[in-house]
Amino acid sequence: MPSSTNTKQRILVAGGAGFVGSRLVPELMTAGHEVTVVDLLWFGNHLGKDVNVIIRDVMDLRTEDLKGYDQVIFLAGLSNDPMANLAPALNYVHNVAAAAHLAHAAKAAGVKRYIYAESCAVYGYTDNSLSTEEDGTVCFYPYGISKLCGGLAVSSLADKNFSVIRLRMGTVCGYSPRMRFDLLVNTLYKTAMMEGKVTVNNPEIWRPVLAIEDAAHAYIQAVEAPEGISGTYNVGSDNYTVGNVAEVVVDHLKARHGKTVELVINKVPDVRNYRVSTEKAKRELMFAPTGSIETILAGLDLHVGPSFPFEEDRFYNIRVFKKLLGA
Ligand SMILES: NC(=O)c1ccc[n+]([C@@H]2O[C@H](COP(=O)([O-])OP(=O)(O)OC[C@H]3O[C@@H](n4cnc5c(N)ncnc54)[C@H](O)[C@@H]3O)[C@@H](O)[C@H]2O)c1
Repeated sequence: MPSSTNTKQRILVAGGAGFVGSRLVPELMTAGHEVTVVDLLWFGNHLGKDVNVIIRDVMDLRTEDLKGYDQVIFLAGLSNDPMANLAPALNYVHNVAAAAHLAHAAKAAGVKRYIYAESCAVYGYTDNSLSTEEDGTVCFYPYGISKLCGGLAVSSLADKNFSVIRLRMGTVCGYSPRMRFDLLVNTLYKTAMMEGKVTVNNPEIWRPVLAIEDAAHAYIQAVEAPEGISGTYNVGSDNYTVGNVAEVVVDHLKARHGKTVELVINKVPDVRNYRVSTEKAKRELMFAPTGSIETILAGLDLHVGPSFPFEEDRFYNIRVFKKLLGA
């Protein structure tokens, strides 16, 4: 087995000021790695003052800018369906072209590993069986297509000197200094707190949920994985139906906040329904998730709580993005 890369790595994190990056970057630094973030700061900068942040579009980076880095992590782009549907062409530029351009420049600069933030959204609508990385992907919506094409583009560059790891993440939920309330558990927590009511559009739909602490752990495992490793890996804390997540949120609000929350169930069809197997990541990356809906809610209680300004636009990607496009 080739040696593991758990020595100090010089890492460039594209999109590192976002929701996932704002949790991951401090953890990478705590693990002893040297990190630089390049980010357009669409949602501001919530990283510590000790983090070197370059405000720049990934598309403007050149091979010279990548020299001296050991690894590059791509967390940039449009990160959900509403943004991708609003601006499909821009979605393909930021999720596919930017990812491919950065990987190509990184390889030319002698970077050894490229880690791409893919999404389980690529699996589309399945028959509820556990999807593995070998199974087909059926996505016909701009976000899913772009995440799949971005992954295919970057993995085409993999060879014995350039490792490419695609982390196919479930819906990431939990607390980040750059907070989002447009993600499954976070959204239900917010509406339960604010309205005393949660609405579930389709309780039978399956989703892999990835607690944000497990997301950070997955990236660190990928950074520190043996040198020869390349591949695609599903990462999730566990699979849940949306109805099950809502029930846990309702129970949590009652038990921890003494609040009775009404559960409204609708039957709206969804284009996405998938459960994923994370066995490959557990076996090859030593990914060991510990998160659950309960740990996500406990994290939200700790950092957010009932008096949080939930409705500010900055917590919703689509609202910020509409303003950016308008500008
Ligand atoms: N959050 C999830 O549930 C989830 C699930 C699966 C995959 N992903 C993927 O993980 C990544 C991170 O997600 P997130 O929730 O942190 O997203 P986010 O929207 O919070 O952050 C994205 C960051 O990228 C920056 N950015 C976008 N395009 C850029 C460019 N061209 N150049 C420089 N910076 C740019 C933005 O300013 C922002 O800070 C995304 O690629 C997303 O598609 C996220």
